[in-house]
Amino acid sequence: MTAPPAHPPRKVYFETFGCQMNKLDSELALQALARAGFTTTDDVRDADLVVLNTCSVREHAEHRVLSRLGRLKPGGPVRKEGALVAVTGCMAQRQGRDLLRRAPQVDIVAGTKEFVRLPELYADVKRERRPLAAVDQGEVFDYPRDPRFRSEKHRAWISIMRGCDLHCTYCIVPTTRGPEESRPLADVLDEARRLVDDGVVEITLLGQTVNSWGKQLPGSPDLADLLCALDELPGLLRTRFVTSHPNFFRNGFWERIRGLRTFCPYVHVPAQHGSDRILKRMARLYTTDGFRAMAEEARAAIPDLVLASDWIVGFPGETEEDHERSKSFLREIGFPQNFVFKYSPRPTTPSERRFADDVPDAVKARRCNELLDIHAELSHAYNLSFVDRAVEVLVEGPSKTNAERLFGRTQQNRIVIFDGSEDLVGRLVSVRVEAVSPHSLYGTLCEPSAPRRSLPLAGR
Ligand code: SAH
Ligand code: SF4
Ligand code: F3S
Repeated sequence: MTAPPAHPPRKVYFETFGCQMNKLDSELALQALARAGFTTTDDVRDADLVVLNTCSVREHAEHRVLSRLGRLKPGGPVRKEGALVAVTGCMAQRQGRDLLRRAPQVDIVAGTKEFVRLPELYADVKRERRPLAAVDQGEVFDYPRDPRFRSEKHRAWISIMRGCDLHCTYCIVPTTRGPEESRPLADVLDEARRLVDDGVVEITLLGQTVNSWGKQLPGSPDLADLLCALDELPGLLRTRFVTSHPNFFRNGFWERIRGLRTFCPYVHVPAQHGSDRILKRMARLYTTDGFRAMAEEARAAIPDLVLASDWIVGFPGETEEDHERSKSFLREIGFPQNFVFKYSPRPTTPSERRFADDVPDAVKARRCNELLDIHAELSHAYNLSFVDRAVEVLVEGPSKTNAERLFGRTQQNRIVIFDGSEDLVGRLVSVRVEAVSPHSLYGTLCEPSAPRRSLPLAGR
């Protein structure tokens, strides 16, 4: 009979808000906690440590965290006796020690570069019996990634840079994530290799302005160099990168990546607005003409390229005419994928300090819906262009809406739903599209599979 452990394994419950960057940080934090003997639980009532990895990008994102915290008061129904509550990520970084004062149920505040210290902070708080805030901007890049800790088996994110050197006037991210730092090419490749060895077939490179990667590194390599290097990894089927800034596709970027085996022709490059006056107020550093020229160069090199955009409606001073310009620019560029946000003034940002938030919420909501309507129309029209055609799909798993069916994504990131067996998950297949909705494609597996580029397909 083996002796029982000194104490039962501690359990951590994790909730992640915000962007992919935060989701990846949650994986890294879980890895650190697992090394320290924590196991994960899906039941918050059973957790010794509850972690909320937070976002600060809009006020609504912070409100969601505060309402979650409201339910985690000591003695409350969802909190185990003695459990600690940690707030990590962008809201933790922004509010720091103040958060401990505002929300006394919080025991640990860990900033955007401190989250991997959670096990240590947990032990400190337990020992010292007082709450702690760590937002001193430590270093996380050297943190050795264990490929086993990730949320999906076949797809993984790699952070290739952190922070942002731009100063878009509405944005809190440079404050919460600090200045831009790129990770050396060899480190990224090494991590990619380990992930591929562990079964990953699709890698998404992450950064706030991911296409400015490399500028601080010796020899100033750029994103095209990195994509070319990744393309040589046997076993890797797809690479993606997010989010790009329209100004940083330089030195013949599109020509250099167009022939790559793994490059997926889907690029998220937010326009944010269609009025030059507002783009200037946002300090986005380009005009609609500049964006147009970038899109033309990209499409000349890669005709099947899909551009995706973010939009902000109701930025201070936005008139009906400015908004009409966003609508026509959305149509003109023809982005089939869009994310639309109502302007939210963020404390200490230049736009919050300089301009009144003068567009009423009802107007913001209407403008948001108008852009979303155009989005649905463009997305549907784009989907219709695939009817009766075969598309290459990376199979992700059972469909979220009908577990009997499978779903996957095309190279251009369109969701495809079809029938097939689960052993196809993680493989490339060819699906003939038969019907579409505004947001998804529906089809039948082709027999035999037909490759689009010279890629290995399931069943070959
Ligand atoms: N670094 C990325 C994304 C930053 S945050 C980029 O530059 O594209 C994601 C999106 O949130 C932004 O693209 C923008 O559209 C939106 N956003 C950022 N700050 C906002 C704010 N204060 N109010 C409303 N939307 C905002
Ligand atoms: Fe924010 Fe602009 Fe940097 Fe994106 S590029 S993170 S919107 S400051
Ligand atoms: Fe991401 Fe939100 Fe921070 S969008 S970078 S988690 S403010």
